Amino acid sequence: MINAHWLDIGPVDQLPPLGARTLPVLGGEQIAIFRTANGDVHALVDKCPHKHGPLSQGIVHDTTVTCPLHNWRISLITGEALGEDKGCTRVIPVRVDAGRVLICRSSALAAAA
Ligand code: FES
Repeated sequence: MINAHWLDIGPVDQLPPLGARTLPVLGGEQIAIFRTANGDVHALVDKCPHKHGPLSQGIVHDTTVTCPLHNWRISLITGEALGEDKGCTRVIPVRVDAGRVLICRSSALAAAA
């Protein structure tokens, strides 16, 4: 399903639990789509707030992802660094409908701004 607000990016089954895939945005920042152990799906701009590490290559645990570069833990819900670390990665609204992953079109395109 494609409509003005939500962009269909494929079946949720393509996202393994505790895995991630990336969505390039033409002229903009890549988006990382994550799936947690309980099947929830989250999306962040694929840039750690520390030194722009690729969060899509991090380890998902509960509702966080650990950056592969220096192990900051980033909330998949708020995009904020947890613990002593400070910084925030932009969250892209995402939902699952009839087995398809839909992301907010305007937020995804804003990554290109
Ligand atoms: S770039 Fe992510 S922790 Fe340093």
